Amino acid sequence: MKHSMDQDILKVLLTEEEIRRRVQEIGKELYDRFEDKNPLFVGVLNGCFMFMADLVRATQVRSQMEFIGVSSYQNGTKSSGVVQITRDLQHDITGRNIIIVEDILDSGNTLAYLRGYLKSKGAGSVTIVTLLDKPSRRREDIVADYAGFVVPDEFVVGYGLDYAQSYRNLPYIGVLKPEVYSK
Ligand code: IMP
Ligand code: MG
Repeated sequence: MKHSMDQDILKVLLTEEEIRRRVQEIGKELYDRFEDKNPLFVGVLNGCFMFMADLVRATQVRSQMEFIGVSSYQNGTKSSGVVQITRDLQHDITGRNIIIVEDILDSGNTLAYLRGYLKSKGAGSVTIVTLLDKPSRRREDIVADYAGFVVPDEFVVGYGLDYAQSYRNLPYIGVLKPEVYSK
């Protein structure tokens, strides 16, 4: 049965199974690299929540978890590049090996800001993991250490990613029909 959310999707870009397999692969790579490093996963709210839950279970190392909230202000269709922390970390990160977990790396504003912020707070190392990478839109000099999938310059939703706060609970990642924006 097609649900009303599914009817807003133009095409499925990544199926549940494709996402699951890729998350397992990244988990294995992180395991090999961080096995004895007691890393701190820092998830970027809200988009990270589903990826984070699957990724930390695929990475069975001793580790801790935190979440950080950020918002980047929009100027019409363009991101202003101004990033603000809306929910800060709850613990000291001095000397910690941080693994940032992000849903999508787009212009790079958010991650460029966060990387600088975490370093200014004394992080020992900062590793960037993003589920999706849209390199065509990059404005900041930032490269993910681990990227699940490279995606084209289309607006995608599902598996944590939203449009106007909806569609986050779709189990796959899809491209939204253009008419949904103009509703
Ligand atoms: P950046 O700061 O431009 O790299 O933007 C990153 C943030 O923009 C992500 O964490 C998402 O919240 C949001 N974003 C960018 N592209 C998309 C998309 O295609 N779908 C949903 N959210 C997106
Ligand atoms: Mg986000």
